[in-house]
Amino acid sequence: LSGGELQKLLVAASVLREADVYLFDEPASYLDVAERLNMARTVKEMTKNKYVVVVEHDLIVLDYLSDQLNVLYGQSSVYGRVSKTYSSRVGINNFLRGYLPAENVQIRKEEIKFEFRDMSELDLLKNVKEKVVWSHIRKDLGGFKLEVEEGAARQGEIIGVLGPNGIGKTTFARILVGEIQPDEGFVNTVGLTLSYKPQKILPEYDGTVQQYLEEVRKDALSSTSWFYTEVVRRLNLHRILESKVTDLSGGELQKLYITGALAKDADVYVLDEPSSYLDVEERYVVAKAIKKIIRERKSICFVVEHDLAIHNYIADRIMVFKGVPGLEGYGTAPLSLRSGMNEFLKLMDLTFRRDGETGRPRVNKPGSYLDRVQKELGEYFSTRVVKEAEAE
Ligand SMILES: Nc1ncnc2c1ncn2[C@@H]1O[C@H](COP(=O)(O)OP(=O)(O)OP(=O)(O)O)[C@@H](O)[C@H]1O
Ligand SMILES: [Mg+2]
Repeated sequence: LSGGELQKLLVAASVLREADVYLFDEPASYLDVAERLNMARTVKEMTKNKYVVVVEHDLIVLDYLSDQLNVLYGQSSVYGRVSKTYSSRVGINNFLRGYLPAENVQIRKEEIKFEFRDMSELDLLKNVKEKVVWSHIRKDLGGFKLEVEEGAARQGEIIGVLGPNGIGKTTFARILVGEIQPDEGFVNTVGLTLSYKPQKILPEYDGTVQQYLEEVRKDALSSTSWFYTEVVRRLNLHRILESKVTDLSGGELQKLYITGALAKDADVYVLDEPSSYLDVEERYVVAKAIKKIIRERKSICFVVEHDLAIHNYIADRIMVFKGVPGLEGYGTAPLSLRSGMNEFLKLMDLTFRRDGETGRPRVNKPGSYLDRVQKELGEYFSTRVVKEAEAE
């Protein structure tokens, strides 16, 4: 079985068992967005009136599944503490704010904020140039056919790529970086430097973490740089500088390759699933670094990602890939964040509202008042802030 198939089988086997307490450790890993939400719905329905404990990195899934939560905080590889119990909504908001009031502990210096935007920041700037342009693309891989609408990405822009498993997202990424030639159409990246973090990563480098990073960029480990304090240290890579790349764990390798990809001075970054294996905190460290680097270098970044909250946090525009997984995929041109999410959630038959305090997206209960109203209005991804009483 594939990673996703095995995951679904094991979750299904657990909920089918008659028990008083159910424990799920990262049930969303390896699943695409649709499958994550299906999994969450299934767990919720099948465990009614039972105790369920879920450990999860995807905030939207966690928010949807849980009533109460505990935040684990501390210092990675040194110590960990479990917070008091908060209601799920308050707990997630505290976590995003970086402060736990009941224990009076600051777990992070700055807040993680979600903006509500119909337009990307770039739409407000004048003279933003298109830097990467592609025509209508067709590619036949034998069993699988991909078609992508023509489009363009602008300087300083982050384009999110969203869609189910096996729909052609990675194939598009490989076409962008020139690993695969399309049968019809072209991508214009002539004269641009590329930096690519593939989805499948292998410990192929013969040397240490330090050697790897310094080979990518001489001053990557210069202790006074922003990059060192905000990326290398925050991802805890400074603790494993002497380790051989071939000995790293999956998560460490992922962090190293993302850091390496971002350290490179490039015009175009293509990051295929940077969040896999990372915990929530690390996902936002990476997301923030992407945002800062792309804006400052006026580069372009394509991010393939299954975590909707991360898309909402960094993407200026979204390309939605749909079709029949494993058979045919169709990628849209970059759509505004709002219409891209809207298009995708319509396919999922789910509506989202905004949390009144942090602006983070929250799933509406299927069939609830807001769910029905938003569906009627075609507003699957609402940017309207909602008081929680209204949502209940
Ligand atoms: N080189 C290839 N030859 C033949 N088929 C391929 C090749 N590469 C990918 N495929 C098939 O094309 C389809 C799309 O694959 P792709 O890796 O682009 O999906 P994806 O959207 O990135 O999925 P995931 O979310 O699981 O990473 C899959 O069915 C895959 O098995
Ligand atoms: Mg892929």
